[in-house]
Amino acid sequence: MRSAKTSLWKLPLVLPLLSLVSYTLADTCSCGYAQDANVIWTDSIETDFTAVRDIETSQDWAVQKWTSARNVSEAPYGRLREARNVVANPATGGNGAVGKDGSPAGLQLFVRSVLEDDNALVPVGEIFSKREDIQYGSFRAGIQASSVNGTVGAFFWYRNATQEIDMELLSAETTATNSTLNMVLQSWQSLWAGSDASKTAGFKKDALPFIADDAVHEYRFDWTPTSVSFYVDSNHLWTNTLPEFIPASPGYIVLNHWSNGNSGWSRGPPKEDAKMTVTYVKAYFNSTDSERQRDFVSACKKPSSDNVCQVTPQTGPPTCRKPGGCEDGTITVSSAATTGKVLGASLISIVGVAAVWLVVT
Ligand SMILES: *[C@@H]1O[C@H](CO)[C@@H](O)[C@H](O)[C@H]1NC(C)=O
Ligand SMILES: *[C@@H]1O[C@H](CO)[C@@H](O)[C@H](O)[C@H]1NC(C)=O
Ligand SMILES: *[C@@H]1O[C@H](CO)[C@@H](O)[C@H](O)[C@H]1NC(C)=O
Ligand SMILES: *[C@@H]1O[C@H](CO)[C@@H](O)[C@H](O)[C@H]1NC(C)=O
Ligand SMILES: *[C@@H]1O[C@H](CO)[C@@H](O)[C@H](O)[C@H]1NC(C)=O
Repeated sequence: MRSAKTSLWKLPLVLPLLSLVSYTLADTCSCGYAQDANVIWTDSIETDFTAVRDIETSQDWAVQKWTSARNVSEAPYGRLREARNVVANPATGGNGAVGKDGSPAGLQLFVRSVLEDDNALVPVGEIFSKREDIQYGSFRAGIQASSVNGTVGAFFWYRNATQEIDMELLSAETTATNSTLNMVLQSWQSLWAGSDASKTAGFKKDALPFIADDAVHEYRFDWTPTSVSFYVDSNHLWTNTLPEFIPASPGYIVLNHWSNGNSGWSRGPPKEDAKMTVTYVKAYFNSTDSERQRDFVSACKKPSSDNVCQVTPQTGPPTCRKPGGCEDGTITVSSAATTGKVLGASLISIVGVAAVWLVVT
């Protein structure tokens, strides 16, 4: 395989192709995303992180660079969010599962073992969605968890300390034979319990039907005005319908990988650099932005199978990244009913083919 450098001249040829795909998708889904017969979301963020070469230029995601100072009455260490801990590892070919550095392709979020600021801060990786107008929706991420003890890998929606929907993978709870998932709804009750949701009915820990650091799996939460439901690889784990735990305000999406040395939760810091890999995010949601709502109404004259896209559930672990798909484990994207197959395949395959063409030829 030749170096990527020799193929860089092709980038200008590939980029218009990629924007054509997103344009087609956006235009096609002008009447929203149908999750089932009676659930329609107006907006989406679909990011294939295996095709991302430079996360800093992302239109959808902001790399976080700020510090939570150490406060020893809360945890032994603070957190230093740095750009160097958010690393793009684009796919280099084959079935698209392997990245430039030889490990699984996708966005890598690191927790470093060497502390900063006189051993007060753990260097961590975190991204926020740029959209902050997200209220209700279905949120999905392909994640391979850390295999190094002492970190938390999280995928969540956030507004503030009392409104948060969170899926957390603790590497201290990931053994060779058992993995768990912590499902967390922050609320006034959890704040009053010392910001500890596990002391409330807004918390559930479940054994996972797979080992979280072995492969990529899809972590998903669906949020409506009356419920929050959690899924892994489309298997339902838990639904909470208690009104005091259901957020009702706009917020943003977060992916992070962190440690603060807290003995009851993250443990750590890790003894070696710990990595979590995110292969994609697919979020279908409603916006609280009145301008965006007006745009939706004016763009969607008459809903039909041509302009309502179908949100299809993931079948099995999302491991297949082969352009055109595989029999099982193919990553599904939203697609309009009539042209579904073409569009569904084209997003993944054009990105895949472009990546392969750039690097291999
Ligand atoms: C989302 O927006 C659509 C279109 O406006 C609306 O029909 C639907 O009821 C909204 N869903 C929720 C949960 O607010
Ligand atoms: C440290 O944390 C404690 C417990 O949450 C809090 O009461 C205190 O105000 C914090 N101190 C600082 C300096 O933030
Ligand atoms: C969180 O946001 C909601 C909605 O704006 C607000 O009602 C609540 O007071 C906020 N919680 C805190 C702890 O500020
Ligand atoms: C991780 O380390 C903690 C101690 O910090 C230990 O209790 C736990 O069993 C370890 N987990 C694994 C998976 O080795
Ligand atoms: C796996 O983890 C779950 C949740 O923490 C726990 O209840 C269960 O006992 C564990 N199983 C084994 C075999 O360690």
